[in-house]
Amino acid sequence: MASMNLFSAVSATFDGRTPSTYLPRRRPISVPFAASSPESAPEIELEFIAPKAESEVEKAKAMSGEKLLRNIMLDNKIELYATYGKLMNCGGGGSCGTCIVEIIEGKELLNERTNTELKYLKKKPESWRLACQTIVGNKENSGKVVVQRIPQWKK
Ligand code: FES
Repeated sequence: MASMNLFSAVSATFDGRTPSTYLPRRRPISVPFAASSPESAPEIELEFIAPKAESEVEKAKAMSGEKLLRNIMLDNKIELYATYGKLMNCGGGGSCGTCIVEIIEGKELLNERTNTELKYLKKKPESWRLACQTIVGNKENSGKVVVQRIPQWKK
């Protein structure tokens, strides 16, 4: 008769498999990620004015320094492009000039004109920006930016 000890009895129970393959796997414990700071990140409020006076002012909010003006407008379904721009825009590459907007208020909350804008908007008013080159906020500031969208000169 073969001798049987505790180890051989346990091995027989597991049918040749090691206990780690037999026992249910432990699930990782998920711990909700706590915010690192009790303060909320600064936000920029945006208002978009259409060229026609009877049109409604559209509003959006964005975390300061997180997004380009173009992306905020597209994400919020705020019309940016006129007819030609809808069909022929460069997708935010700074090469078509169809995303021109005028900043009515809050210019100081935006990045400086990029080299692309300095080249493209050289002889244009200071208040004109390419929405695809304009970063809204600098991660620290907050306030309100008013944007004139699809100005008359684009129609
Ligand atoms: S989308 Fe083409 S220049 Fe801005």
